[in-house]
Amino acid sequence: MFKTTAEIRNTFLDYFAQHGHQKVSSSSLVPADDPTLLFTNAGMNQFKDVFLGADKRSYSRAVSSQRCVRAGGKHNDLENVGYTARHHTFFEMLGNFSFGDYFKLDAIKFSWEFLTEHLGLPKEKLLVTVYSEDDEAFDIWAKEIGVPQEKIIRISTSDNFWSMGDTGPCGPCSEIFYDHGEHIWGGPPGSPEEDGDRFIEIWNLVFMQFNRQADGTMDPLPKPSIDTGMGLERISAILQNVHSNYEIDIFQNLIKDAAEIVGSNDLTDKSLRVIADHIRSCGFLICDGVMPSNEGRGYVLRRIIRRAVRHGYKLGAKDIFFYRLYNSLIEQMGDAYPELKQLQTTVEKVLRIEEEQFSRTLERGMQLLNDAIEQLDGDTIAGETVFKLYDTYGFPADLTNDIAREKELKIDEAGFEAAMQQQRQRAQQASNFGADYNEMLKSDQQSEFTGYDNEQGQANVLELFVEGQSVQAISAGQEGIVVLDNTPFYAESGGQVGDSGTLKTAAGLFTVKDTVKLGKAIAHKGQAGAEIKVGDSVEATISANRRQAIKLNHSATHLLHAALKQILGDHVNQKGSLVEAERLRFDFSHFEAINKVQLQQIENMVNEQIRQNHSLTTQLMELEAAKASGAQALFGEKYDDEVRVVTMGNFSVELCGGTHVKRTGDIGLFRITSEGGIAAGVRRIEAVTGEAALHYSQQQTQQIGELASMVKSDTSHVAERIQQVLEQSKSLEKELAQLKQKMASQAGADMLSQAVEINGVKVLAAVLEGVEAKSLRDMCDSLKGKMGSGVLMLGLANGDKVNLIAGVTKDLTSKVKAGELVNFVAQQVGGKGGGRPDMAQAGGTQPQNLKAAIESVAGWLENQL
Ligand code: ALA
Repeated sequence: MFKTTAEIRNTFLDYFAQHGHQKVSSSSLVPADDPTLLFTNAGMNQFKDVFLGADKRSYSRAVSSQRCVRAGGKHNDLENVGYTARHHTFFEMLGNFSFGDYFKLDAIKFSWEFLTEHLGLPKEKLLVTVYSEDDEAFDIWAKEIGVPQEKIIRISTSDNFWSMGDTGPCGPCSEIFYDHGEHIWGGPPGSPEEDGDRFIEIWNLVFMQFNRQADGTMDPLPKPSIDTGMGLERISAILQNVHSNYEIDIFQNLIKDAAEIVGSNDLTDKSLRVIADHIRSCGFLICDGVMPSNEGRGYVLRRIIRRAVRHGYKLGAKDIFFYRLYNSLIEQMGDAYPELKQLQTTVEKVLRIEEEQFSRTLERGMQLLNDAIEQLDGDTIAGETVFKLYDTYGFPADLTNDIAREKELKIDEAGFEAAMQQQRQRAQQASNFGADYNEMLKSDQQSEFTGYDNEQGQANVLELFVEGQSVQAISAGQEGIVVLDNTPFYAESGGQVGDSGTLKTAAGLFTVKDTVKLGKAIAHKGQAGAEIKVGDSVEATISANRRQAIKLNHSATHLLHAALKQILGDHVNQKGSLVEAERLRFDFSHFEAINKVQLQQIENMVNEQIRQNHSLTTQLMELEAAKASGAQALFGEKYDDEVRVVTMGNFSVELCGGTHVKRTGDIGLFRITSEGGIAAGVRRIEAVTGEAALHYSQQQTQQIGELASMVKSDTSHVAERIQQVLEQSKSLEKELAQLKQKMASQAGADMLSQAVEINGVKVLAAVLEGVEAKSLRDMCDSLKGKMGSGVLMLGLANGDKVNLIAGVTKDLTSKVKAGELVNFVAQQVGGKGGGRPDMAQAGGTQPQNLKAAIESVAGWLENQL
């Protein structure tokens, strides 16, 4: 029974929803707050903390279709794309999850019922694997489901023990395989032929039981759970009666469009598959905020784009082509993922710019590689060549490897690594990065934050630290950390800095300089004015003025974020934020400088929202409901199940735990103080609000006032006036230059009287003063004109340099050559020169010898004339 891929996705979600599973939308390809993971690579990623017991949800069963990228990190399929029927950089994983609810029996039953009854797969085509020691799973398959024993294969390797990464949730698993039939080569799992394409794994059921630690130990999870993953493309291939994933509807359409764009006729060409695969990962990655760059996620994206581009040129693409395929991706997947369409302009632009850049070096790089291959002795391309291609021509090593593989060659990976290592060392020597020492403090206490509504409160001291050690008391004068049971002090998070203020005990004051989180405890950092002890009761008071200034900046940050999206586009994502009392700083993804007009529009829009004086509301909501209501979830930020939603009119809705103004009007005024780029594809805006914005504006007015008085104008005409002054000074400069020239020719005329006669020829040899070097030539010409017939030798001392010029009228060049004359003088002042027979120039470095050198001219000429 034929089903489109979109229908299969929905059938799966609906089936599990009918069985009590909450439908959860796919999370971003950039994992939230999980440094162990490069890209989202499985449906369970967004539930990692739920499995570990560190996070709770309102549901205990979930179902999702998760976008995944496996191109870097533990699960990396990039190199296989184009070579097998079923590897992708991007794919969708259908999964059902149980968080301590059902376990093996139901997981297995659900999967079997769904495959055989809902999708109608013939039972005899299916076979399963279990982890070798998992008798329980074996028995369920055999007895409860009735799978013949010879079709239940025990596997002892890590193939049947799934883990997300080197650390994290893991457990034994059971995989369901589909037999594509005898006509395809391959053997069942566990057999020597298992890598063939006949038996294809379609669904992995993971019985989550452990949390793997960095040292390899396995801690049991709080509750046994279920995580499953079925490749949507693989199951579609089966239901659409094709063998390769690349033959399913989505891919066939992408491949047809790609062929048309690059002008290729052979729809089975492997390069078309690569391009169709890559537009999916690249399109979705850019939608999720990744920008091509030289490191981390951005570099993986760059590698995939470049690989796609190379295959396009191999197929004969004549022009920038890859971005043109994005529209086809929207047609294929835009219904399930509306963000593809929303971000169309951005994604296309990013792809186009990246391809334009790479296409400039691609051809020359290919040339170098082809030459290297022609001269190759053996089958391995040298590491140095791979490095040069990388370093000079922007060929990622896997791209070179891809080309090598097509020609049945290898690359010397170790040699490449060594060359890279050398470069890293060079770079390290060139920079002097200091080590970053984090304070390694831990607290098991919990503090309640009371500061949304209060600036002051009574509290008890739970814990104290001095120099990283837990102590019973901090004595007067000592610096340390105080943990309270409840506190109005906001601990630095979400970009908002920590509060400062005081803790008053019976004995005296503890001055709080900063507040941070220590696990669930709130830590007040500062200095004791009098002894403070565990168990003391304190009156905690924040610095209210400072907090107020911080609030203005935080609320303004939300307005700015919303305004940026409206004016620059939906691709704008927060990349970093700092909210201080003095200013706010906001980093966001955007690929080009913001022009002045846009910057002013942004500033105006924020101020308009301030003047609308929206009252600000905060509301606690479930995460999914908050997202569904359109709240802006911040990129890479990790949220609890229950989140705080901050709303300002119908302009800005954001998830945020920070402190905010009551009404937007409290912000008063918002001024942008700077805009610039801080990394590839990342811009930074700094701004001020309230009193600081007023001061900023006043300062600017004052500066203009000072300028005005300097140029003797009033502030409204200062620009015009400065323009005038600049024009005046330009015309004065011009006048001055003319005058100098005039004076020089005047001086020249005076000098003519110094000319002597040698053997009947007029000779003028003189040292000049107060003349500019660049007017020497003019002088020489004009003097020659005035002399009619004669020889000229002029020298000029110019600081520690000498400028010389010799001139001979045409009638005398047969007797004296200007070049020889000038050289005769030049060698006496440490120089050398040359030129035409009638005019030659030279320089020198010994002004002290100039006078004598000029005087020697007469003697020299006597022999020539
Ligand atoms: N998390 C499991 C996988 O990715 C289901 O295979």
